[in-house]
Amino acid sequence: MRATSAHDADARSLRRESAAASFLPAIETSSPVPAVRQLYLQLRNGIVAGRLQPGHRLPSTRTAAREWSLSRGLIAESYDMLIAEGYAVGRHGSGTYVASGLPPIPTGVSDGHKAVPGNDTRALSAAARLAMRIGTPLPLQAPFATGRVIHDARTASLLKRLTLRHLDYTHDGYRDAQGEETLRQAIAAHLIASRGVRCEPGQIFVTSGTQQALDLVSRLLVSPGETVLVEDPCYPPARQAFVFNGALLSGIPVDRDGLITQALEAYDGPAPAAVYVTPSHQYPSGSALPLARRLQLLAFAQERGCWIIEDDYDSEFRYDGRPITSLQGLDATDRVIYLGTFSKALLPGIRVGYVIVPDDLVAAFRAARPIIDRFPAPLHQRVVADFLNEGYFPAHLRRLRERYRASRDFLARLLRERLAEHLIALPPEQGIHFTVSSTGSWADDRAVAKAALEEGVVVLPVSPMSLSAVAEPRLLLGFSGLTDEEADIGTRRLTRVFARLAS
Ligand SMILES: Cc1ncc(COP(=O)(O)O)c(C=O)c1O
Repeated sequence: MRATSAHDADARSLRRESAAASFLPAIETSSPVPAVRQLYLQLRNGIVAGRLQPGHRLPSTRTAAREWSLSRGLIAESYDMLIAEGYAVGRHGSGTYVASGLPPIPTGVSDGHKAVPGNDTRALSAAARLAMRIGTPLPLQAPFATGRVIHDARTASLLKRLTLRHLDYTHDGYRDAQGEETLRQAIAAHLIASRGVRCEPGQIFVTSGTQQALDLVSRLLVSPGETVLVEDPCYPPARQAFVFNGALLSGIPVDRDGLITQALEAYDGPAPAAVYVTPSHQYPSGSALPLARRLQLLAFAQERGCWIIEDDYDSEFRYDGRPITSLQGLDATDRVIYLGTFSKALLPGIRVGYVIVPDDLVAAFRAARPIIDRFPAPLHQRVVADFLNEGYFPAHLRRLRERYRASRDFLARLLRERLAEHLIALPPEQGIHFTVSSTGSWADDRAVAKAALEEGVVVLPVSPMSLSAVAEPRLLLGFSGLTDEEADIGTRRLTRVFARLAS
């Protein structure tokens, strides 16, 4: 009896030994992963995959060193790692064994190099699925791409100097969720003077551009399933932010004077939580909302008890006539949430924007802001604050306005000379893009945009920005940061695009 059991135990032990012995690690000397970790991972994977079963005795460091051509120290260290993480146990005097009693290991545990591929039980949220339908990003620097900025050498060297001033990191502990006080004071002073905004620094929340402000505003002011009224056509990233947070959208048409307030007053759908507008420069059509319509919009918000979200993204670039003051400045009933950004007026890469809320919303925004990303990073805020406080901003804007005006005029000339057969292009009085319509030679703006992209030119089709089924085909051409050479090349390529589409 005793002999038989000893024999069985020997046989089991032999089988275990041979399984462990047949294990041969492959250490890549050129890998950035240290050899110890590579060996540990390969042994761990053997255990996880069941090739090295519970109770297997791992070869002694002496045997393994001989068979695997590795140093004993390296092997001992990787065994220690396995023991420390519970994959193996060390038995004094008799060696290292694969641990017993590990729970069943799910398939697809990472091998330490790659992510585990998804399986049927992992689901994306509805918001993620929606975000994935948005489409592929366009080239950022091609002719007519929107959102480009001109390189201004004077501003660049000022920003560099101011950045160096703040690079000592002495104040970079956790910061106020609203943003740096100096920047909020500077923004308040700038907006009171230039945009007629009524605000105190305490109402300002610094955000990572307008986009984060839109996200914050929709989370705080619109519950999932509630309706937001948007201009039709509308700035797509704003629509996306509302829908991403569960809002339903209803479009109010725009004409050459912006939002048609008669259509707004006739709206009889579910009670809106908010109306999103770009009153100083409607995106994408380019119109400015006249005073009478502004007053009607404010009255609508008051009657229906909803918020107005005013996106004032590019009002610094007005070329003719006086700048139109903000809607927020007209609002006596604290209905307007004002969004601004330095993405156009300074640089999009610094990601400094802001949202200005009425006093009675400050507590809610203060409570929610840190949940999203604690507080905005201070370095660029301090740089922008100094840029404003030390008086560089007005001259910077004058330089940019001059150059953008010249780019606008040059592009208008080229469009007139080369593309009048296809495009009706009125130079915009404000902003940094042309919105052009068809002479009748084309009707499908998506097809034009697709063909243009094949020629290396980015023109945005306006019809997908509309919620209504029948949208006027139009195209959007950015001119900020566009060199004359690019304008020349871009318009030549567009003539080829139209010739190709016509043939
Ligand atoms: C209507 C509108 N709002 C806001 C922005 C700026 O967004 P952000 O500040 O997130 O860069 C843009 C930029 O193109 C815009 O067109």
